[in-house]
Amino acid sequence: MSHKRLLIPGPTESPIEILQQQTKWLIGHRSADYTALYTGIIDKLGKYFETQQNRTVLTASGTIWMDITARNIVKSRALAGVCGAFSDRMYQTIRDSGKDADQLKVESGMAIKPDMVLEALGKADYDTVAIVHNETSTGVRNPIEEIGKAIKKEYPDIMFVVDAVSSAGGDYLVPEKLNTDVMFTSTQKCFALPPGLSMAFYSDAAIERARTVPGRGYYTDLVAIHDYYKKKQQNPTTPNISLMYALDYQLDRMLKETSKARYGRHLAMAELTRNWAGKTMKMFPEPGYESVTVSTIANTLGKDIGALNKALGKKGYQIANGYGDLKEKTFRIGHMGEWTPDEIKSLLWHIDEIWGE
Ligand SMILES: Cc1ncc(COP(=O)(O)O)c(C=O)c1O
Repeated sequence: MSHKRLLIPGPTESPIEILQQQTKWLIGHRSADYTALYTGIIDKLGKYFETQQNRTVLTASGTIWMDITARNIVKSRALAGVCGAFSDRMYQTIRDSGKDADQLKVESGMAIKPDMVLEALGKADYDTVAIVHNETSTGVRNPIEEIGKAIKKEYPDIMFVVDAVSSAGGDYLVPEKLNTDVMFTSTQKCFALPPGLSMAFYSDAAIERARTVPGRGYYTDLVAIHDYYKKKQQNPTTPNISLMYALDYQLDRMLKETSKARYGRHLAMAELTRNWAGKTMKMFPEPGYESVTVSTIANTLGKDIGALNKALGKKGYQIANGYGDLKEKTFRIGHMGEWTPDEIKSLLWHIDEIWGE
């Protein structure tokens, strides 16, 4: 199989030295060596995200946090911002858990704004608000800092849950500044690791809330996960140890680069892509709310995106078509993880060449 370098919005390209970390010998997950590995990861996550909040790493992709939110954080009624496929998944997950959920839905390509959230919160008695930071299906970046501030000012007891699956580790996110009670992400996006782990940051208030919510499940029981870590500094069930090695290694690299420099690099890649797209087409998200990790471009030239990807494949690259209904109407360039502005320039040059621009 020939290697295509991934510029899709996850999984993204993972450098070989990161992949190689997974070939180390296994250790027992109840050993002192594992405790050292795992507590080191928790410590590094705290440093990178500049947070004192609780941290955990679960062996499951990011979606598990939608189930955890539904089963641990929502007491009886949640407001879910819906601006695309992934935020809709959060809404459906809460609703399917048997609890009440209302959607605050905006048109595809639009962002959810603080005043919309406040207006919706005035209409019913909500205990949780869930918002996606970076809606990967549309390339919209929601203003979660302003939303968090607005919610906590008016409704300090409401739990604020943020899906940062496709932004954390690329965009600049500090839980305390965002006022999040739960913020979660996955390994295969801006962390540039293989899929399979999810990392989350949660407040003391979130764990207090979870203690009062029955029916938390087993694998999804945040209280059990939290208490087990406090007691044993390990995970309650067997973790993917090989991926933990890779995460530990990558966190060292990320700390060396620094979170602000990583953000700067992602922003530079996003701006390059936006400027390039703006010359002949336009960005799909409403202006001012474009993602810094994935650029969704409106296919206003009516190009055959499937054919473009085939041609790019011959040059060793893969980008993403539009998601779901947006297929061929948009296309997405995932510039996340370890990609650099120079490499993005090179990709855009190849697209221009294929299109004969
Ligand atoms: C914004 C967002 N949320 C959730 C998910 C689901 O994450 P995972 O595939 O890690 O379960 C994705 C995956 O692309 C995503 O982009």
